[in-house]
Amino acid sequence: MEQTLVLVKPDGVQRGLIGEVISRLERRGLRLVAAKFMNVDKGLAETHYAIHKGKPFYEGLISYITSAPVMAMVWEGPNAVAAVRQTMGATRPTEAAPGTLRHDFALEVGRNLTHASDEPANAEKEVALWFKKDELVAWKREVDRWIFEK
Ligand code: RTP
Ligand code: MG
Repeated sequence: MEQTLVLVKPDGVQRGLIGEVISRLERRGLRLVAAKFMNVDKGLAETHYAIHKGKPFYEGLISYITSAPVMAMVWEGPNAVAAVRQTMGATRPTEAAPGTLRHDFALEVGRNLTHASDEPANAEKEVALWFKKDELVAWKREVDRWIFEK
């Protein structure tokens, strides 16, 4: 089953939107695999955002993600990566479709509430970076067969 990393970033946590994010992913039908409320140290932030090193927004991004606790989670389901990105909406909240989290709750790209892995290969790497294997819970729901076709 495809898995993806989701972070409720410090702005989402401070604004009391952890529940909103979880609720939207749950009602979409995705299955929670792991969750951890934590501070992000500079090393983890720099590894996670290595791809953005050198970009003009990089320093601001590192200080944003390390500024206060985040809620890190792993969610799974068919096409979990694409489904979660769609629920979050476009990176820039003013380009996010109505009904998406970033449209409904955010205004600025530097305060866009969440992170979600952008492709399955990166999702695997990010899940391994943020969680130890024994922190991932393998489980099934009675309702799975009514949400997952296979
Ligand atoms: P994320 O990784 O957080 O899910 O967001 P994303 O794929 O939609 O966007 P990405 O290009 O990976 O950028 C990562 C985060 O960096 C901040 N950002 N700021 N000021 C800017 O132009 C700018 N561009 C990106 C955002 O917080 C974005 O989520
Ligand atoms: Mg990204």
